[in-house]
This record gives sequence, structure tokens and C-alpha cells, in this order.
Amino acid sequence: MTLPDDRFPTDFLWGAATAAYQIEGAATADGKGPSIWDDFTHQPGRVSDGKTADVSVDHYNLWQHDVDSMAELGLDAYRFSVSWPRVQPGGTGPANQAGLDFYSRLVDGLVEKNIKPFVTLYHWDLPLELERAGGWPERDTAERFADYAALVAEALGDRVHMWTTLNEPYCASYLGYGSGVFAPGRTEPAGALAAVHHLNLAHGLGATAIRSVLGADAPVSVTLNMQVPQPVDPTNERDLDAVRRVDALANRAFLAPMLEGEYPADLLADTAAVTDWGFVKPGDLATINQPLDALGVNYYRTVKVRGYEPGEQRFDADGHGNAHASPWIGSSGVIDFVPVPGPYTAMGWNIVPEGLSTVLETLATRYPELPLIITENGAAFDDVVEADGAIHDAERIDYLDAHIGAVADSVAAGVDVRGYFVWSLMDNFEWADGFTKRFGVLYSDYETQERLWKDSAYWYQALIRSTT
Ligand code: FCB
Repeated sequence: MTLPDDRFPTDFLWGAATAAYQIEGAATADGKGPSIWDDFTHQPGRVSDGKTADVSVDHYNLWQHDVDSMAELGLDAYRFSVSWPRVQPGGTGPANQAGLDFYSRLVDGLVEKNIKPFVTLYHWDLPLELERAGGWPERDTAERFADYAALVAEALGDRVHMWTTLNEPYCASYLGYGSGVFAPGRTEPAGALAAVHHLNLAHGLGATAIRSVLGADAPVSVTLNMQVPQPVDPTNERDLDAVRRVDALANRAFLAPMLEGEYPADLLADTAAVTDWGFVKPGDLATINQPLDALGVNYYRTVKVRGYEPGEQRFDADGHGNAHASPWIGSSGVIDFVPVPGPYTAMGWNIVPEGLSTVLETLATRYPELPLIITENGAAFDDVVEADGAIHDAERIDYLDAHIGAVADSVAAGVDVRGYFVWSLMDNFEWADGFTKRFGVLYSDYETQERLWKDSAYWYQALIRSTT
């Protein structure tokens, strides 16, 4: 990077992202109910280090300090999620005012520092009571989500810059109900596809609820983690078919209903032996297909696939641990994931910045009118705190520099990208990896709750300063 960086439009938003369960702690404070992640992390064997996020980095109490750090970094925007069971402890009924008040204080604190609040309504922490009633495979969960969305819109609506209905419904459905590596840990292929549909429906109902409270011009988006499958052999038809299957299940299962009002015919065919998709009711696709103000893209890595050859199979392509069950519903017997060349991050994820340009340019070709925002990008490395408190995370700087460069390339190619959010503001609870993976630009000391500035934080601050 050479400063000043003039590759981005002047109104381009530089931000950082977090999620409620990963940072807030305060698991039972002020009337909060349990979520599926509270329940899951307390089950033995679910999280690699056996930890929970009951306390995590205690953002619930330290939020003002964190907002001050954001201001010092120079962030234009902050993406966080609202914990549904903090707002509705059992997932239904009236709002828990104390829960809403927390987010209201946070939003006020952000606005005061001129930081635009980007609010994600669902980053995987379903109220446990709704899971007990069937969870995302049940249609009612989508209806309940709309009620919850309306409550949050009423409380925060006047100050929120962008609403995001869902974060990565791919993970919530396939990893939560397919491979079971994420909460609630179920391995039900048909249930995972029902979850896909009901998450899509929740998106549509939620977007509608937000706009019925705040008016038709309330800005609404959704965040998807686009998979970038490459064929082992681009001349082999079976490998190309594997690419198509991964794209259908991971990407188009969400993009097509949300942006085009239909499920891809090939997705329905690939999964026909698992379900007849009878859970899709008349009118659902029109409900799901709401106008969007932006599409959020989370990008970390690429995958390499081949058509099935008998032999060793690897079903850890989600990168979130080795599952016994496959998240690739309907395709587990005919596709296989092969190791990709390095370099890798501490997650074992390959570092391929051009993959981000590929995602952005593919989306811009498919949906030319739709503004894009990178709502997550970043890397875990094994950070070392030096005796003087410095953290020289040169690999993270290289990662961010290269990926921001890829975004700049797409901007130069004419893609309408509006912002970039680094994952994450600070190290936090990395789901089934517990506290073993550090993604922050700020270093979290989990003993003292101190946040230290890594070199990457100073680097990001300098980049932002040079562009504004
Ligand atoms: C994404 C999640 C985010 C974080 C990063 C590393 O899948 O949305 O919460 O865990 O991965």
C-alpha cells in the first residue's frame, strides 16, 4: 500500500465487524435468555478448547471503551449484531426493555462519534426456546423473526445506517443442521434444506417488517458468505459439475430466491432424493424477493472440488472443523474437496486475494444494479505479544493489504463496492474454535480484558486517515 490511498471513492466506508455472541459476554445479564450457542458451547466436545462465550471480551460492559477505540481507529462504520434472546428472551412476546436499551446506548455512542451503525439482526444466536420448538426447520421460526425485527426497528430505527437481516445463512443452515459443527449441532439433511428455506423466508419477512415500521426507503441488506469453488481439472466435466453443485447449494440457494424470486432448478434436482421442497408455500418466493439496498459479502478463502472418485473423502471444506456428517446435502456422494495450496492462515484457510475480486465481479455481472459491501474479511494468525506490549502481526497486514487491493481492482473494473469491514475489531470467541483463533486488529487479553493495538490496527488507522 502506498499512502495516500486514492483507489476508492471518497464516500467509501471503512469499518470493522463483530457479532453479539462472540463479544458481548453477559450471558444472563438484564433478563437475557439463552441462545442455541449458549446451549451448544456448554455441551462437552462441541468447542475445541471447551470454552464458552459466557464472558468473552465483556463488550456488554466495556462497549464505551470499544467505541472509543473505533473512533481512534477512524472507522466510518461499525457492523455489529443484536442478540435476539437479549431482546426477546424466549424468542416471542414483548421486548425485554433492558436488552433494547443496551443496543440503544451503543447506537447513541456510535452516532456521537460519527460512526455509522450497521445492524445485523441474526448472527446465529437463535433463542433456545425457538430451537426447542423445532428451530429453523420449522416455518414458525421465520414468522417469529419478523416480530423480533419489528421490535428492533422500532427501538433503533431512527439511527441505524444499514439493516442486515441475516449473517451467512449458509452456516446457520448447513453447519447448524447439516454437518452439525455449529449450533444447534443437528445432522438432518432434509432439516438443513428446510432451514435454508425458512432463513430465506425470515429474510423476506424481516425486510418487510423493517420497512413497515420505518417506511419503504429503510435501507436493508443481507450478508452472504460466497463460496468460490475451483475445479481440480477445468476440462473434466465431473469436476465442473462439482463446481456447479457447490455454487448451487452454497451461493444460489440464497441469491436466487432473494434476488430473483426463485430456487434454481438444478438445486432442486440435486437435492430431490432428500426432500421435495414441500415446505415452500405459495407466495413464499415473492415474500423472499424484496428489494435490497446492498448485498453484504463475507470473504475468506477459496475451495477446490472434484467430481467423486472412490477413495478418501474430506468433508471439512467449511473450514470450521471436521464433521462426521456432510453439509453438502444431496451431493456428498458425488463431490469431494481436495487440499488447496498455501499460504494459509491459522484457520488453515488458503490466502487467495484474487478470489475476492472473482466474487465481486461475478456478483456485479449477475446483479449489475446491486451495490456490494464487504461485510467481513480478515485473518487469524498466532499473534505474539512482545515484552513491550507490541504485536507485530505482519502477516495480517499483508493479508488485509492484498485483499483491500483486490477490492480496489474490482472498483477499478467498475464494480459498485461501497465499503469494507475488517473481521474483526478485536479477538473474540471464534465459534467451535473457542478462543484459539485470533482475528482482531485489536488484541484481546482474555484474563485482564485489556485490548492492545496490533500493528495491523495502526496500519488500518493510517489507511483510513489517508483516504478521508
Ligand atoms: C464468519 C462469521 C464470523 C467469524 C468469521 C471468521 O463465518 O460470520 O462470525 O467467525 O467467519
